[in-house]
Amino acid sequence: MKTILITGGAGFIGSHVVRRFVKKYPQYKILNLDKLTYAGNLANLRDIENEPNYGFIKADIVDAERMNQIFRENNVESVIHLAAESHVDRSISNPMEFIFTNIIGTVNLLNAARIAWQDKMEDKRFYHISTDEVYGSLGETGTFLETTAYDPRSPYSASKASSDHLVRAYFHTYKLPVVISNCSNNYGPFQFPEKLIPLSINNIRNNKPIPIYGKGENIRDWLFVEDHANAIDLIFHEGKNGETYNIGGNNEWTNISLILLLCKIMDRKLGRADGTSEKLITYVKDRAGHDLRYAIDSTKIQHELGWKPSLQFEEGLDKTVDWYLENEEWMNNITSGDYQKYYENQYVKR
Ligand code: NAD
Ligand code: TYD
Repeated sequence: MKTILITGGAGFIGSHVVRRFVKKYPQYKILNLDKLTYAGNLANLRDIENEPNYGFIKADIVDAERMNQIFRENNVESVIHLAAESHVDRSISNPMEFIFTNIIGTVNLLNAARIAWQDKMEDKRFYHISTDEVYGSLGETGTFLETTAYDPRSPYSASKASSDHLVRAYFHTYKLPVVISNCSNNYGPFQFPEKLIPLSINNIRNNKPIPIYGKGENIRDWLFVEDHANAIDLIFHEGKNGETYNIGGNNEWTNISLILLLCKIMDRKLGRADGTSEKLITYVKDRAGHDLRYAIDSTKIQHELGWKPSLQFEEGLDKTVDWYLENEEWMNNITSGDYQKYYENQYVKR
């Protein structure tokens, strides 16, 4: 049985990737390595936790010796590396966690793989999951290509850019068989409600203000999380070593137009009069260094690997809202305790 180590599998995207691989590939042993930070939640994987080809290891990727030990003891043959500190606002208030996990944690995994695989690299793979935010901020036109120069502007994106550079350096220096993908904003079930879409769904449900930074004119490209998991599956199996693949939804929205659409869907689902939820929109102080626009050119993965997004945004958002409304308990469990403190610091005290 081939053993694949998936880091960050208890988080948002990681849990979709773990679920997909466990169900689709019974011939692989899927080891989920996660520190279970505030963003990691084993409840995201309840439906597959007893599958015979699934295992969980609670560990911190910043612990180098532990990473070496895990590679030694489990005969790890491939890595899909998603573990990261992932929220831009948290990187602004506390950058060091991002430096430790995203940079040092990634190097620890690269070193563990290099040591464990030194005698035979051919059938191995180290797949690093990254973000479009490494490319910086676009003006009104243009898109990010795989060849676009890096220009990260937040501690989060700078830490991800740094880890991407290190992954490429290990390919060139040590011939480590790496592949990287850079994806746009994901949305869907199991996303922690610090991010725009689940935060807004939760606030609308509870009749609380929907905080919009600045004028709401910033633009993001949104992709349904299962379309990202599908792309990861394809790249893992068919991507070329040393290559980068951009993944995007070809689906740009200003934050305000996205929230207006979400409000309409929520009014309909909650049986509220059209226009009710919109009244909750509240403009708040802008994020420091707020990137204006991200947009991805995903021609390469479409042409080379035959990937394309499967869902229209309206359909994906509808499905996402249904999931959050049907899983109130999941939301209530993670919004008690520490989440309240985070929320007050982020939105009330500034
Ligand atoms: P997330 O914050 O939901 O999950 C991150 C997971 O990593 C959590 O389970 C957490 O417990 C774990 N983790 C954090 N620090 C760790 C450490 N030191 N050791 C071990 N585990 C640790 O993040 P996400 O949104 O699922 O993002 C996953 C990956 O995809 C990240 O690398 C992120 O940069 C990238 N990405 C995210 C998006 C997006 O829109 N969410 C888009 C493109 C790329
Ligand atoms: P977010 O979900 O944090 O993702 P990212 O910063 O990685 O793109 O934010 C998406 C967009 O929504 C971004 O332009 C910031 C904005 N935003 C708000 O306007 N209000 C909020 O409360 C949050 C969390 C984000």
